[in-house]
Amino acid sequence: MSERIDPALPKVELHLHLEGAAPPAFIRGLAQEKRTDLAGIFDHAGHYAFDGFTGFLRVYEAACTVLRTPRDYHRLTRAVLEQSAGDGVIYTEVFLSPDFCGGGDLEAWREHLAAIAEAAAEAEREAGILMRAIVTCIRHFGPDRAKRAALCAAETAGAFLTGFGMAGDENAGQPRDFAWAFDCAREAGLGLTAHAGEWRGPDSVRDTLAHLRVERIGHGVRAIEDPRLVEALVESGTVLEICPGSNVALGLYRDIAAHPVARLRERGVRVTLSTDDPPFFRSTNRREYEALARAFGWTEADFRSINRDAAAAAFCDEGTRKRLIERLEATA
Ligand code: ADE
Ligand code: ZN
Repeated sequence: MSERIDPALPKVELHLHLEGAAPPAFIRGLAQEKRTDLAGIFDHAGHYAFDGFTGFLRVYEAACTVLRTPRDYHRLTRAVLEQSAGDGVIYTEVFLSPDFCGGGDLEAWREHLAAIAEAAAEAEREAGILMRAIVTCIRHFGPDRAKRAALCAAETAGAFLTGFGMAGDENAGQPRDFAWAFDCAREAGLGLTAHAGEWRGPDSVRDTLAHLRVERIGHGVRAIEDPRLVEALVESGTVLEICPGSNVALGLYRDIAAHPVARLRERGVRVTLSTDDPPFFRSTNRREYEALARAFGWTEADFRSINRDAAAAAFCDEGTRKRLIERLEATA
């Protein structure tokens, strides 16, 4: 029997895509308001419907077409943060893309970001959840658009916007194609992360570390296929933003028991837990924790330790980190 995990256990989530967290009913509502036909992206029960990773990316981008104004993003941010707070999340880092928020235009991006920051401040006041933003370029949109995204990030870096990363189709291009964007973001003082080792093998993690010089890797789970890389991750202290339910839903692993998160952790890799795009994968943090407790016998003490590691790896100022760790410990 696995230990019951308190649903209110405080959680630190470092890997959540804002549009990917949009409830399907929210997107349907916007589609109705804007008289846009999005029926093809939902199944008969109203869930998002897709096949495999590229199918997922297509549905994701179709859903984004009804998110058009700063006000839409304000409403979305409120909805997402309320859901996260109800799931016990006390701190969340959310991926935002200037490509979706204003089409890569700096002024439009500023307006979208201001609306998102305002919604985050409201959620902090009302639900006590703290949010920081990470700009992500979209890999399959190519290096030129990644540069524009990095410039948007550099221009708006600050207390709220604290990181830069890369999402999208890992099979498009090579990490080194995006080095300019990551150098630009690093010079602006942003924390760096990139999706790798999800759809490509261990070499993709190695190349991402070498060319983009990131502190964290989104997913990175396929590092498990190369013991020398696992050792190198331990040595460098690289943090993996692991999203077990996402990996299972997209067919990378058969089930949670087959997922390498426990083996990576046992070998000393710094692992953290996130939901990625929860309504797409019909997951929540609570469900992830329950599934991990069942599969690996993890207890509340294990999850507390993982959340402390996540707080240590968060892209936030030291005062915020201290408060966060105090909040994690206050409930222990
Ligand atoms: N965008 C949203 N979710 C993603 C994932 N799991 N991998 C790459 N890009 C994404
Ligand atoms: Zn992701």
